[in-house]
Amino acid sequence: MPIFRHNSLWILETAASGYAFGLNPAGLLAHAYWGPRLPFPSDYPLPPNPAPWASFNGAGQLTPEEYATYAGPKYTDPSILLTLPDGVRDLVLTYEDEQIVPSPQPELHLHFRDAHYPVKLTLHYRLYEDCDLIERWVTLSNQGPEPLIISRLFSALWNLPPGDNYRLTHLTGRWLDEMHLRRDQLTHGIKTIESRRLTSSHHHAPWFAVDDGRATEDHGQVWFGGLAWSGNWKLAAEVTDFQSTRLNIGLNDWDFAWTLPPGESFTTPAAFAGITLAGFGAASRLLHDHIRDHILPHGKTLHKVLYNSWEATLFDVDEPSQTRLAEVAADMGIELFVMDDGWFHGRKDDHAGLGDWWPDEKKFPAGLAPLIERVNALGMDFGLWIEPEMVNPDSDLYRAHPDWVIHFPNRERSECRNQLILNFARPDVQEVVFSRIDKLLTDHNIVFIKWDMNRNVSEPGWPGAPGDQREIWVRYVQGLYAVWGRLAERHPRVIWQSCSGGGGRGDLGILRLADQIWVSDNTAATSRLAIQEGFSHIFPANVMEAWVTDAGKELIPLEFRFHVSMCGSLGIGGHLLHWSEADRALAAALIAQYKEIRPIIQFGDQYRLRSAQETACPAVLYLNKEKTEGVLFAFRILMQYPSTTPRLHLQGLIPNRQYQIEGFEQPRSGAAWMADGLQIDLNDLQSTLRRIKAVPS
Ligand code: GLA
Repeated sequence: MPIFRHNSLWILETAASGYAFGLNPAGLLAHAYWGPRLPFPSDYPLPPNPAPWASFNGAGQLTPEEYATYAGPKYTDPSILLTLPDGVRDLVLTYEDEQIVPSPQPELHLHFRDAHYPVKLTLHYRLYEDCDLIERWVTLSNQGPEPLIISRLFSALWNLPPGDNYRLTHLTGRWLDEMHLRRDQLTHGIKTIESRRLTSSHHHAPWFAVDDGRATEDHGQVWFGGLAWSGNWKLAAEVTDFQSTRLNIGLNDWDFAWTLPPGESFTTPAAFAGITLAGFGAASRLLHDHIRDHILPHGKTLHKVLYNSWEATLFDVDEPSQTRLAEVAADMGIELFVMDDGWFHGRKDDHAGLGDWWPDEKKFPAGLAPLIERVNALGMDFGLWIEPEMVNPDSDLYRAHPDWVIHFPNRERSECRNQLILNFARPDVQEVVFSRIDKLLTDHNIVFIKWDMNRNVSEPGWPGAPGDQREIWVRYVQGLYAVWGRLAERHPRVIWQSCSGGGGRGDLGILRLADQIWVSDNTAATSRLAIQEGFSHIFPANVMEAWVTDAGKELIPLEFRFHVSMCGSLGIGGHLLHWSEADRALAAALIAQYKEIRPIIQFGDQYRLRSAQETACPAVLYLNKEKTEGVLFAFRILMQYPSTTPRLHLQGLIPNRQYQIEGFEQPRSGAAWMADGLQIDLNDLQSTLRRIKAVPS
């Protein structure tokens, strides 16, 4: 039984990890253990029960609470902040009862209530045993006759083993430059990373990894996790003065307030976390499996090789231009043709049209059907770009409903890319957008949608809101999930891609709806290597849509550009009509090769052999789950001085099994390829793809 009681402990065990906490004699729910799974229940330590320290620190200040309240003489960062109807602003929890649900995923629900007020708090845990992950969320219920106000309600507090010498690894970036890995020593005080942008954002990913400073890609204990939420979020990593390090994670409490009416509950998004003893690479692989096995709507569906016409034709789309591209694409073996921005009513450039989601009458006088039929006749599926949360002031929708956008009265409505944001917190907005996109999907044979969001929020007001306007941060995302969820339910075969000017909305919340993420608007292959590597710390290769474009084509060979994109879900985005016959033939051959190896790339285990963010010669390996077949990619970008490409050491192979690697005459054992390695010499801007096969035993 993965969840059980032992003495005063609740013990949660996954395949390789153990997690324990319990009520200490002072009545506080105290965290006891999070590390490798231990052989016997009696191995797990009892919940700590520290004494107060002088008159300045109550026992609560020294206790690693499983979920920290504000109560008594305690000054650590709380997980929850409330204002009760009479102005009381603390919460004194008393344990009520537990509920253990064995399947489909084992769950534990612990119920607490306030010692005096009719407020109930439930801590929820769900185990993903195969992926060594724990999911946590919280429900707060107001059972009294008057409303209370929530100003903070995090999803989880993760306590690390006692110590104040941890390192936080996180991902930062910006538009065109997402997903840079940063490693910061956690020092006394609070280190915060967050989003205030209404999306999970390009700037910080809702993800973390923590270690004692000694973990590497393939060694060492790493605690890792994140938040499954596509709006404002916050991670607050605190190091206390009593050798305790803990991470609060959840909805951002910045500019947030939620009025909880009598009889109602508020449920937070899910936080998830796990541990591994095998370094950052293993942490990523556990997350990859979790995403593929438990989250993605279409699970392990192989993604088709797509063509997207954005970088070729920009807004200048019409039936002839798209048909010409589609014909060339089909010849090259492309399986899905996606028309990007520019196809809808009034859309000449980025000044007009958003909101009016029907085909532009001038560009598509007979509608989209003839183009879709032609694409289908060429043997390809058809996909389309939309940006449903947005509106241009120059649109029929905005002219009819200027009050539907997020704004403050008496303030300028700041436009970014000439657009405003529809307030998805409003049911009327949700309904209209749902019916427009539903009609589009009902009337056409569309099997792929790229859902974009090309700006961040400003003037986050909701005039006429039924409650506190600051609820908009959460209600907007709930509205987005509701509209998208209804559309996905009505059109189950559609594959959705999440895009927000590239990687502005990549998180495990959106992956319950979208099978793919558009990683970055930066499609230059050399930059892309670093961005893709950062992305791979969270997401598996099948989620990572990667196009081969013309960016940097003067310098970067087509094969190199292909190899970079073949590390994910391959797409093509260059202007095919400008490609030479030789380039098209090379592309067709590489597309055919990708089709053969894509199950290994999209569903296999990924090993980052050498970092693109740290070296000029990155390499990445994908192995199928049986470890019988693999694909190795090695790149050399620009090295400062003439020098040879460093030797590569493979990972993940079965040590005593023989493997043949393309380009090497003799098979060698997995142990030899890993310990002794291999030498592949590359020139600047040269790349190679080598297939690896276990010799039949
Ligand atoms: C965003 C996307 C691009 C493209 C444009 C269209 O920037 O990230 O890929 O779809 O919008 O306007």
